[in-house]
Amino acid sequence: MRISLIFKLTIATCLILLVFMLFFSYINITTIKTMLLKEAISEADKFGETIIKTTHYEMLENRRERAYEMIQKVGTLQGIDHIRMINKNGKITFSTEMDEIGRHLNKKEAGCNMCHTDNELKVHASTMNRSRVFINKRGKQVLGIAKAIYNEEGCYLSACHSHSPEQRTLGVLDVIVSLDNMNMQVGDYRNKIVFLILLLLISVSLTITFSIHRLVNLPLKGLLAQTQKLSQGDLDARLQNRSNDEMGELSEAFNQMTTSLKSARLEVTEWGKNLEAKVSERTREIRQMQTQLIRSEKLVSLGRLVAGIAHEINNPLTGILMFAKLTSNSPNLDPFLKKDLAVIINETNRCAKIVNGLLDFSRESIPQKKPASLNNIMEATLALIGQQSIFHNIHFVRGYQPDLPLIPIDENQIEQVFINILLNAGQSIPSGGTIRIETFTENGEFNCVKITDTGTGITEENIERIFDPFFTTKNDRGAGLGLSISYGIIERHGGRIEVQSDVREGTTFTIKLPLFPQGGD
Ligand SMILES: Nc1ncnc2c1ncn2[C@@H]1O[C@H](COP(=O)(O)OP(=O)(O)OP(=O)(O)O)[C@@H](O)[C@H]1O
Ligand SMILES: [Mg+2]
Repeated sequence: MRISLIFKLTIATCLILLVFMLFFSYINITTIKTMLLKEAISEADKFGETIIKTTHYEMLENRRERAYEMIQKVGTLQGIDHIRMINKNGKITFSTEMDEIGRHLNKKEAGCNMCHTDNELKVHASTMNRSRVFINKRGKQVLGIAKAIYNEEGCYLSACHSHSPEQRTLGVLDVIVSLDNMNMQVGDYRNKIVFLILLLLISVSLTITFSIHRLVNLPLKGLLAQTQKLSQGDLDARLQNRSNDEMGELSEAFNQMTTSLKSARLEVTEWGKNLEAKVSERTREIRQMQTQLIRSEKLVSLGRLVAGIAHEINNPLTGILMFAKLTSNSPNLDPFLKKDLAVIINETNRCAKIVNGLLDFSRESIPQKKPASLNNIMEATLALIGQQSIFHNIHFVRGYQPDLPLIPIDENQIEQVFINILLNAGQSIPSGGTIRIETFTENGEFNCVKITDTGTGITEENIERIFDPFFTTKNDRGAGLGLSISYGIIERHGGRIEVQSDVREGTTFTIKLPLFPQGGD
């Protein structure tokens, strides 16, 4: 069962207060009761004294009946239970309660035993000792005070001579007064105290409930709600408590904690994103390197094979070409055969060209590097091939970086690369278009040449293979060696060639050559 904090605190405080108040009230009421009783004893004693003094003369005159009559009248006063006179033998000689007149009292009886102790008579017992509180025959609480009537000089010298001078006391006047009034006052006082205690408990419990609700419960509920939000991942949860106390400090600490948590989560997310980007970047680089490595290995082994074959084919080809030319120049030759021989010479030339290309590809000649400007080499290349028929319908757009730094390169080899790429671009634009040539520096690390054509573009399937030797889509017009030779040259310069193509828009080749090649010349 859930018991609220407020309830527990209120009950505990009220219980402590109740115990304390009950103890306090008990002490208080007991003290007041004792004071009132002392007051009543003193009053009753004075009353007895007054009776003795008033009846003194009548007694001296031995007019007992007259004295008893006076006492009878006094006994009817409010608050007086009854008054009686007892003689030295313990006989009740007079009482306002008639039925007890003539009864003998025992010395041990209440009212007598205060003075008659151990067969000895204490004549001057204190007022307190002479008083007693008891329940009368009507069931009411009363106070009795016995007062000795002394045998004074006037008594034993009076005319009646009924008392001898040796006698010290003549009897006792016993005044019994009602304690109803005192009990009523005490009762009233007790009721007031009970009422005050109740009032105090109610106001204390209300004050505690209200204060705890306002100062503790409400802020705690807010904290609980925001903590639940936080546990569900809402890091924007904030507390609005601005109070200048512990609750305010707790709220402030909570807000600081959520702010730190939020920034930590942001950091982690950001870190995760960066990591993802870095991983994919590295993966791309590794894939590129892997492709390059495979391509390089392929090129090296293929180069060796091709070198052998080309060398072996070159000699017979030279022989075929020489004899075909000699025969073709013979004056006795049948003109029909002359036509066939022209075809043989043409095709042999084509073979020789391919064999030369193969030799170029396989030669792996070490670049003869010296500082040169890529802008200048490009301009020289354009001057060399720009007049060819395939470029007639093509518009060249130049975007050179004017202050492009010189870099160590083999001018002839780089020129060959430019020729290969420009020829390919021109061949891909059969019915006119644009070739855009840009040069620029990248990250202070590379000099770049970007050649963009508006040609047919390369399919995704083919783009993986364009650097492979003998890969061509140009049927008998191409040997498929231009790009693989170019790739080898750029690689030997410590650079790289990148290609990006869209079948609808065209192709871009980017050649990147290092400003400071590793193991540079
Ligand atoms: N700019 C380009 N636009 C479209 N396709 C291209 C482009 N450059 C290269 N290619 C494709 O790449 C293939 C390989 O080119 P590469 O230069 O190696 O050989 P080739 O041009 O076919 O023959 P070769 O250059 O030996 O005469 C081409 O056949 C062509 O399909
Ligand atoms: Mg080509």
